[in-house]
Amino acid sequence: MSKILILNGPNLNLLGKREPDIYGSATLADLERSLSAKFPTAEFEFFQTNSEEALIGKLHEAFQSRTEVVLNPAAFTHYSYALRDACAVLTTSGLRLVEVHISNPHTREEFRHNSVISGVATGVIAGFGLSSYELAVSWLLAN
Ligand code: DQA
Repeated sequence: MSKILILNGPNLNLLGKREPDIYGSATLADLERSLSAKFPTAEFEFFQTNSEEALIGKLHEAFQSRTEVVLNPAAFTHYSYALRDACAVLTTSGLRLVEVHISNPHTREEFRHNSVISGVATGVIAGFGLSSYELAVSWLLAN
């Protein structure tokens, strides 16, 4: 049984209601249900928070428990060096962490074009809607 933490940052609790033209109509609960149904052999932990401190705390827990991570850092992607450093704690110790985005930030406002997380992530998947998470989990389970 592989344990995978699905970690979602700020405003992703409003999936389904928030800018549905960009993020779609499915909710965070729909995403969690669908991942559990599609990957019955994975042991998921789901966590969403609007707090940078709580995200970092969860990454520290994942480091201690040797849990791999699928992270949507949301807006923190673009400016949180503290979150980047927490991601680096995992990836420099050999744990895989996949950065995911529902939208393709490169097609959006200029401030979204840079990710401070990507340089320390194992890989990045963006622009495939909620399938970005599935692609990340498939890769983690297959590799
Ligand atoms: C996002 C893209 C970010 O730019 C934005 O701040 C989000 C969601 C995405 O999943 O497409 O909150 O990470």
